[in-house]
Amino acid sequence: MDIRIREATREDQDLIWKATMETVWNDLPPDERRHFDRATLERHFRPHAKQVLESTDNSILVAEGPDASILGYAIVGSASTMLSPVPFGFVYDVWVAPEARRRGVARRLLAAAEDWCRAQGYRKLKLEVAASNVAARALYTADGFAEERIFMGRPL
Ligand SMILES: CC(C)(COP(=O)(O)OP(=O)(O)OC[C@H]1O[C@@H](n2cnc3c(N)ncnc32)[C@H](O)[C@@H]1OP(=O)(O)O)[C@@H](O)C(=O)NCCC(=O)NCCS
Repeated sequence: MDIRIREATREDQDLIWKATMETVWNDLPPDERRHFDRATLERHFRPHAKQVLESTDNSILVAEGPDASILGYAIVGSASTMLSPVPFGFVYDVWVAPEARRRGVARRLLAAAEDWCRAQGYRKLKLEVAASNVAARALYTADGFAEERIFMGRPL
C-alpha cells in the first residue's frame, strides 16, 4: 500500500480527538464505564490529552494514502517512571481508519514512531494497551513489544 507519513497539522486535530476519545471509551473496563457517560469521560480526559497533543516535545505522525486521505495516526513522545532513571520513547496512541485496517498502516506508523525515538536518542520504546484490546495487543506483539509490567484491578 502506498503510504506517506507526515507531521499532523491543525486541520487533523478534530479527527485525532474523535478517534482518540473513541479508543479511550472502548478500552474502559465495563465495570468502570457503568459509573459515567461518555461526555463525562471526555470532560475528564480532555485536559490530560491536550497536554500530550499540544506539547512540542511530542510528535503526531499522520499516515496518508495516495489521494491524501488520512489512513491513521500515531502519537509519540517521551516518558519516564519512578522505577528507572532512563527516559524512553512512548507511543500514546495509534489509530487506523476502519476501512484501512489490516493493510500494514499501523506497522508503518510504529516504524515512523521508532525512527522519531531513535532520532531523539532513546534506546527503548514503550506503550500501554488495554488488556481487552485484542487487535492492538496483536499488533504490538507482532511488532516485537513484550509485556514488562501488568496493571491489575478488581471491583470492590
Ligand atoms: C490496532 C490498530 C491500530 C491496528 O491497525 P492496522 O493498520 O489494522 O494494523 P496492521 O495492518 O499494521 O497490522 C500489523 C499486524 O498486527 C496484527 N493485527 C492487527 N490487527 C489485528 C487484528 N484485528 N487481529 C489480529 N491481529 C491483528 C497482525 O499481526 C498484523 O499483521 P498481518 O495483517 O500481516 O497479520 C487498529 O485496529 C485500530 O486503529 N484500532 C482502534 C484504535 C486502537 O485500539 N488503537 C490502539 C490503542 S492502544
